[in-house]
This record gives sequence, C-alpha cells and structure tokens, in this order.
Amino acid sequence: MYVCLCHGVTDREIREAADNGISSMRQLGKELGVGTQCGRCACTAREILRESRSPD
Ligand code: FES
Repeated sequence: MYVCLCHGVTDREIREAADNGISSMRQLGKELGVGTQCGRCACTAREILRESRSPD
C-alpha cells in the first residue's frame, strides 16, 4: 500500500528503511522523501516506523 503518494513510497519500503537503520521521520524524509511535501503521510509513516522498530 502506498503511504506517501507524493513520493510513491510504500509501507514495505518504509519497513525496509527501518531494517536498514532508519529510526526517525527526519531520516526517512531524507532517504525516501516521506513527509517532505504535503505531509499527509507523516502520521502513518511514523506509525509504521514505530511498529518496525525492535521493541525495547
Ligand atoms: Fe507524503 Fe505528500 S503524501 S509528502
């Protein structure tokens, strides 16, 4: 599913980014552009990022 329509980024890509060590929205925006245009995806993207992070 597309999370960020402005940049065509899917939830899968965000999970992959998290696996590769991306841990903040700032980093995610830098890497994939998520949240840097209209900002509508920020809430969902943050959620996915949090879910993908190892719980501790
Ligand atoms: Fe992600 Fe617009 S949908 S910046």
